[in-house]
Amino acid sequence: MVLNSNIAIDGPAGAGKSTVAKLVARKLGFTYIDTGAMYRAIALKALNDEVSMNDVSGLARLAKDAAVNLETGPGGEIRVLLNGKDVTEQIRKPEVSRVVSLVARVPGVRKQLIEMQKALAEKGGVVMEGRDIGTVVLPEAKVKVFLYASPKERARRRREELAQKGCYVDSFKMEEEIAERDRMDSSRKINPLVPAPDAELIDCSSLTVEQVVNIIMEKVCHS
Ligand code: CDP
Repeated sequence: MVLNSNIAIDGPAGAGKSTVAKLVARKLGFTYIDTGAMYRAIALKALNDEVSMNDVSGLARLAKDAAVNLETGPGGEIRVLLNGKDVTEQIRKPEVSRVVSLVARVPGVRKQLIEMQKALAEKGGVVMEGRDIGTVVLPEAKVKVFLYASPKERARRRREELAQKGCYVDSFKMEEEIAERDRMDSSRKINPLVPAPDAELIDCSSLTVEQVVNIIMEKVCHS
């Protein structure tokens, strides 16, 4: 494998992208980049500033003016900074999850964030996860995977994740929210959620995290 090449991990909500991407990055000594966190930070700012989710130019302006940074915290965890303020916990709130896909469909917002993401990966050595990494942000990446799982399983995982943080969500509601976000992300006009033609599709429904990491590491070794 070329040591400075990048790894693209895409897929829908709750497929386990973050867990897997972080582990792969740690094994390779690469930088992990969560692009969803960037869209979430812009969505949080829009909510705080009371910018309407239909105000396309207002949202684009907001993305242009906002400084979104990803930093490694003292325990090795990734912290998300919005205009210098730590918003790591706030961006995971259900109210942000409910509107983030509306913000992510705005061309001006995507243009801004994609530019930043490309710059972050310029020198290589990055594991980047999102929805359009293999197709748009890093089309030249040597290793591309698209992780998916059944909607039921993804909703179960996401509920478990939130419960660990003390946030309990009804399972039916969770499934509905995930299905709605899938629908919006897959059907938007620009950069929709689709596997890149050269991505390996991995059904994670009945695989352990370790098994998925091993499949990716195997691909990395042969790339
Ligand atoms: O963590 P989860 O799977 O819930 O989602 P996320 O990765 O935090 O992404 C949140 C939302 O940001 C997605 O539902 C997409 O609408 C948007 N997103 C995107 O459009 N493009 C990306 N590269 C990453 C996220």
